[in-house]
Amino acid sequence: MSTKRVLTGVTTTGIPHLGNYVGAIRPAIRAAAEGGAESFLFLADYHGLIKCHEPERIHESTRAVAATWLACGLDTERTTFYRQSDIPEILELNWILTCITAKGLMNRAHAYKAAVQDNLDNGQEDADHGIEMGLYSYPVLMSADILMFNADTVPVGRDQIQHVEMARDIAARFNHRFKELFVLPEARIDEQVELLVGLDGRKMSKSYGNTIPLFQTPKERQKMVNKIVTNLKAPGEPKGTDESPVFDIYKAFATPAETAAFAQALADGLAWGEAKKMLAAKIGAELDGYTESYHELTAHPQRIEDILQAGAQRARKRARELLDQVRDAVGIRPLKG
Ligand code: ADP
Ligand code: TRP
Repeated sequence: MSTKRVLTGVTTTGIPHLGNYVGAIRPAIRAAAEGGAESFLFLADYHGLIKCHEPERIHESTRAVAATWLACGLDTERTTFYRQSDIPEILELNWILTCITAKGLMNRAHAYKAAVQDNLDNGQEDADHGIEMGLYSYPVLMSADILMFNADTVPVGRDQIQHVEMARDIAARFNHRFKELFVLPEARIDEQVELLVGLDGRKMSKSYGNTIPLFQTPKERQKMVNKIVTNLKAPGEPKGTDESPVFDIYKAFATPAETAAFAQALADGLAWGEAKKMLAAKIGAELDGYTESYHELTAHPQRIEDILQAGAQRARKRARELLDQVRDAVGIRPLKG
């Protein structure tokens, strides 16, 4: 049986939040621990530059995202853990893939389409107003991340499915045009986990300032959870599971039986205040055990840096082997004879 290769990344644009954890970090660490799996987990700092032009924020976020992966139990012996920008081979592959990627494919990418739509909604004459090439080409860079290590399983949140499908398309195109060098990757989505909504009703995202961070004191967390939007239904009134993001967040941290009981309690009139207490406790039960380690790591950035450098060495060795084959396949090779 061939080894499963698991790969995922988190962009370095802020402090990791509940969505990053349930959408990518937790499933990736679990998949990495499965027998026979080989895993590549990384900090997507070049992706960070697409959305964030604040150098200090990118830098601070690198520390926070790395500390989060490590505190949540990433096993650096078994996992290749690295920072994207330490692997220049990824950018070489990015260019080669750019040269075979259809522009039309990029036109269909959600992030680009959303930016165009914003322009149209705001009455901009130029639909591409303010849109930079990083945003436009971002699915190619993400394909390079994935294909560089021939990952077959990519644990991500639901917002990233399209990008993994694009990586698959691009890999197939390369294989067809030049040589069968790339594995076709597949997104892995946790069935229990929806795309979590943030405090302002949009997708919870580091870029929107609407997140619930992972590591807080129980008091701080309760305060945050209390800010989640609900309707004005009073205690005793029946409530549906789709009436507040509270339910989806609870579901992402609970067993199916606990989730069913929570839905029933809401239907029976559970007060939103009580529901939020149950939610904060549920999140705490899973994350509080990691909090000390997170703070310990963020206080010692050199330790994190050493771990990343060791990971980069491993990753580069692997990346170089495949990149040499890719370059050869497209005709970039030493002259001989
Ligand atoms: P952000 O939007 O917070 O910057 P990233 O782009 O770094 O998030 O995403 C890292 C991983 O976390 C991806 O796999 C993504 O699908 C997942 N993720 C991000 N936000 C959410 C969310 N609100 N709910 C579920 N998963 C999410
Ligand atoms: N683009 C992803 C996001 O914004 C992060 C990411 C970058 C990623 N490269 C990746 C995820 C490769 C999985 C595989 O959420």
